Amino acid sequence: MDLGLSGRRVFVTGGARGIGAAICECFAAEGAEVMVGYRSSTEGPELAERLGGSAVKLDVAEPQATIEAVAGLGTLDVLVNNAGVDDMAFFTEYTPQRWRAQLDINLEGVLHCTLGALPAMQAARGGRIINVSSEAGRLGSYRGSVYAAAKGGVIAFTKSIARENARFQITANNVLPGPIQTPMLEENRHGPKGDLVVEAMANATLMRRIGAPEEVAAAVVFLASARASYITGETLGVSGGMGTGA
Ligand SMILES: NC(=O)c1ccc[n+]([C@@H]2O[C@H](COP(=O)([O-])OP(=O)(O)OC[C@H]3O[C@@H](n4cnc5c(N)ncnc54)[C@H](O)[C@@H]3O)[C@@H](O)[C@H]2O)c1
Repeated sequence: MDLGLSGRRVFVTGGARGIGAAICECFAAEGAEVMVGYRSSTEGPELAERLGGSAVKLDVAEPQATIEAVAGLGTLDVLVNNAGVDDMAFFTEYTPQRWRAQLDINLEGVLHCTLGALPAMQAARGGRIINVSSEAGRLGSYRGSVYAAAKGGVIAFTKSIARENARFQITANNVLPGPIQTPMLEENRHGPKGDLVVEAMANATLMRRIGAPEEVAAAVVFLASARASYITGETLGVSGGMGTGA
């Protein structure tokens, strides 16, 4: 099936590893021109080179620099807001200082990149925005209240962007991963009761397993494809059925 992505200009934040890297690989396999957003590692430029794309160094938490950098990429066909961090703790263990990064990156980072990309998409009268939120954003999260708040904000923001931009033929959709085998998940394994936490995550899914980054990437690429032209404002769980009340 031709997904109509050949030559499409795609920017993926947090593209160097985990789910973001799988998304970059999947777009490249469809012939898209992939711009790999990365914060600091050497993995971003290496992946970009391997995929024949380009690497874009960017800390999405920086408002002005991010807006300008994304606008400077020219007209994007697809923006994937994937960069994210977690920091698991009970809410009473946080201070405003400690939770700041999760809001700056997971919520405001999405706003910054979207503001950078939208004017050119509107002028081009077309574009796809896919935001990698989380099942935590609709279900809540044990020891992840701030993360869930940010991700829930992303879901509502995406629906609003879908409403405002349908007249420009721009779609905006959310993909909500459940537990996915990535460095982020592995870091949880090293926290308190790590293996038990990860096992509980798997058991919270109907399918009783951790997902693979490629399973999330497949949903993102579908939503960016010509086949998804009439889908906007949606929230698609890629979580082995977590959102169904498992
Ligand atoms: N792995 C999971 O179980 C899971 C579940 C639900 C949602 N998610 C979401 O999926 C997305 C990808 O997560 P992952 O598991 O691949 O995590 P990961 O930690 O493996 O990768 C996250 C990427 O985001 C980048 N990043 C972090 N802060 C950044 C910043 N300020 N500016 C630019 N880039 C930054 C990191 O450098 C990294 O490349 C995140 O938004 C995460 O919240 C993951």
